[in-house]
Amino acid sequence: PRTAAVIPAAGRGVRLGPGAPKALRALNGTPMLIHAVRAMAASRAVSLVVVVAPPDGAPEVKTLLADHALPGGTPSGSWGSTDFLVVPGGATRQESVKLGLDALPQGIDIVLVHDAARPLVPVDTVDGVIEAVRDGAPAVVPALPVADTVKEVEPAAPGEPEPVVATPERARLRAVQTPQGFDRATLLRAHEAVVVGEGATDCAGLVERLGEPVVLVPGHEEAFKVTRPLDLVLAEAVLARRRA
Ligand code: CTP
Ligand code: MG
Repeated sequence: PRTAAVIPAAGRGVRLGPGAPKALRALNGTPMLIHAVRAMAASRAVSLVVVVAPPDGAPEVKTLLADHALPGGTPSGSWGSTDFLVVPGGATRQESVKLGLDALPQGIDIVLVHDAARPLVPVDTVDGVIEAVRDGAPAVVPALPVADTVKEVEPAAPGEPEPVVATPERARLRAVQTPQGFDRATLLRAHEAVVVGEGATDCAGLVERLGEPVVLVPGHEEAFKVTRPLDLVLAEAVLARRRA
C-alpha cells in the first residue's frame, strides 16, 4: 500500500510570538518545515509529502522545498524517491488538513498527518505508526504518558481563578503526538462527517466521532510540539546533540 504524509504548516504560531509563520522559523539555521519534511521522507514507506502552506505562502514554500532538495541531481518536485506537493492552507488546522487530503492522488491508501511543528520526530516512530495501519488499524496515534496531573476546569472570566471540576486519573491519560496514521478512506469519511462548530483538535478525534476504533502506539520525547519560545531552545539542543 502506498503511503503519503500530509504536513499542516499553515499556522501563524501565535504562542511562539511575533515573527515569520511558525513552520518557516529556523531551527539551527534550517526552517522547521524542512526538518519536518525530512522526518517524513526518512521513512522508506513514504512516497509523497503534501505540505499545506500558509494561505498566501505556497510559492515561497515550493521554492524552499526545491532549495533544500537532496543533492544528487534530483528533479525539482522530488527529494530522492519522495515526491512533494504544496497546497495553500486554511483558517484552522482541520481545514488545512482537509485541503491537503483533497490534493492526494489516486493510489495512496495510507495517510499520515504530521504537524510541521513536530520537526524532530524520529523515523522509528513514523515507521511504527505506518506498520500499525498496515496491520489493519484504521487510525493510529503515537502517544506518551503525561507527566503532569491534569485538571478539568469550569471556564472563568479572564483574570479570575478557575474552579476545578474534575481530576482524571493520570495513569489513564496520554498526550498524543503526530504523525497520526490512517486508512485513507476512514480519514476522508471522518473529515466529511464534520459538523460545523464541532471540530476536533486532532484528526483521530474526528475518527472517534465516527465510532471507529483509534489505537495508540508508543510516541517519542523528541516528537514534542514546538509551541512556545522555550520549545525552540529544546529543539535546537536536541539537534545539537544529534550532530555531536
Ligand atoms: N496549522 C495549519 N493551519 C492552521 C493552523 C495550524 O496547518 N490554520 C498547523 C500548524 O502550522 C502546525 C500544526 O497545525 O504545524 C499544529 O498547530 P499549532 O502547533 O497550534 O500551530 P499554530 O496554530 O501555528 O500555533 P498557535 O496555535 O500558537 O498559533
Ligand atoms: Mg494552533
